[in-house]
Amino acid sequence: MKVLITAGPTVEAIDPVRFLSNRSSGKMGYALAAAAAKRGHSVLLISGPTSLDLPEGVDYLPIESAADMYQAVKSQIGRHDIAIFAAAVADYTPAKVADQKIKKTGDEMTLTLTRTKDILGSAREVMDFKGTLVGFAAETEKVIENARAKCLRKSCDLVIANDVSRKDIGFDSSENEVTLVYPDREEALPQDSKEHLAFHLIEIIEHLGSD
Ligand code: CTP
Repeated sequence: MKVLITAGPTVEAIDPVRFLSNRSSGKMGYALAAAAAKRGHSVLLISGPTSLDLPEGVDYLPIESAADMYQAVKSQIGRHDIAIFAAAVADYTPAKVADQKIKKTGDEMTLTLTRTKDILGSAREVMDFKGTLVGFAAETEKVIENARAKCLRKSCDLVIANDVSRKDIGFDSSENEVTLVYPDREEALPQDSKEHLAFHLIEIIEHLGSD
């Protein structure tokens, strides 16, 4: 099958030398890309900057901003059977990027941010994606409730939820513990390395389209 995966953080420029970003390492998305390629799928990885090596046999489309990622996904998603959104996309971006380095002036400065487009949330209605759609939900409270709401709101077949308030798993860690949240049920998986978990998740996601 053809699998599109988004991964890593996005980088939102403020001026030529500054940006807003987040702590996503990209490990989960890259592990999913590696696992999908090893299982014989054709994989396109659309990723923000990370320090990770590109997994073998994976096509790579590097992007920086949330707007770049939106355009890349929009132009590619139609060719894919499965789309997995593991990227930590900025929800807000600077309203304008200064052409020159911003000089300090007063004791305070205010940066105006505007909402970015929800890429996962646009997959069905705006991009008309008909394949298997999988999102992630990084939550600090009411994990299942919030993930289920996300799953329904964004018309996903599955949302992979994790509790990012826990320091030992998630964002920057090599391990993860997730709950699979479907529109009508959920299933908790045991804590595992991101590599191991990725194989398991790809197996599950492969079968979703045929259920
Ligand atoms: N996502 C996306 N585009 C965005 C924001 C998020 O594709 N602009 C995707 C992420 O890759 C992830 C899922 O949406 O798969 C959940 O992201 P999250 O930011 O937690 O969801 P939101 O709906 O933005 O909810 P909130 O910020 O209110 O928790």
